[in-house]
Amino acid sequence: MNKNLRKAVIAGNWKMNKTRPEAKALLEAIKPLAANAEGKIEVIACVPFTNIETAVNTTAGSNIKIGAENVHFAKSGAFTGEISADMLVEAGVEYVVIGHSERRQYFGETDVTVNKRTKAALEAGLKPIVCVGETKEQREDGITEGVIGAQITLDLCGISAEDIKKTIIAYEPVWAIGTGLTATPDQAEEVCAFIRGELARIYGKDTADAVTIQYGGSMNAKNAAELLAKPDIDGGLIGGASLKAEDFNVIIQAAVNG
Ligand code: 13P
Repeated sequence: MNKNLRKAVIAGNWKMNKTRPEAKALLEAIKPLAANAEGKIEVIACVPFTNIETAVNTTAGSNIKIGAENVHFAKSGAFTGEISADMLVEAGVEYVVIGHSERRQYFGETDVTVNKRTKAALEAGLKPIVCVGETKEQREDGITEGVIGAQITLDLCGISAEDIKKTIIAYEPVWAIGTGLTATPDQAEEVCAFIRGELARIYGKDTADAVTIQYGGSMNAKNAAELLAKPDIDGGLIGGASLKAEDFNVIIQAAVNG
């Protein structure tokens, strides 16, 4: 298909894990393999806000890019506890995870706020990683495509074709996150291909073919190669397995080989 139009992107989402010394040690252990992958794939570590400075310094001059795990949509103001896109850019951040299902589930994130955050991130020059995915109940009810289609339409509303090419879509079935249950390669491919179809409906085929779509949800050293071999899966957003250098390195290698 058109997979050669897109660079594979392997991103760790550390969630609420790692102190600064631990962050430094993990990144140092990933650096050598990420260096080998230079020019072939993109490697990203999305880290807690408190680790950003350490992560940016540790990875300076390397092939590892740093991401944040959330961003507020306002430029500045009375939003206690929030961080703006400009603040992230100033800190050296290049990517930001937006609309992760944990934020939707525990912190009142909606498609409307995901859309606002995505626009704010793009405006500031950050590359958003926008997460979509269905729950177990939604899959069992046979409404996976309806749910994902609505998320794509609403989350990306008003975003230009030029900006969507800077945006990564992460398909993360909620039932596969942190559960050890992985979507089969066929299940993951089916939804990633559906997402690309929705992008083609909105932006046209050429633009849709240029957008990186990741799979996330219990991706690990054992299953990564099979998932990444699928035509519409351009990378992974990895939680638990990104916290162990050994496992993350195997996933990076699988993407390089794929
Ligand atoms: P796990 O890889 O731990 O299932 O987490 C996936 C995820 O939520 C990445 O954003």
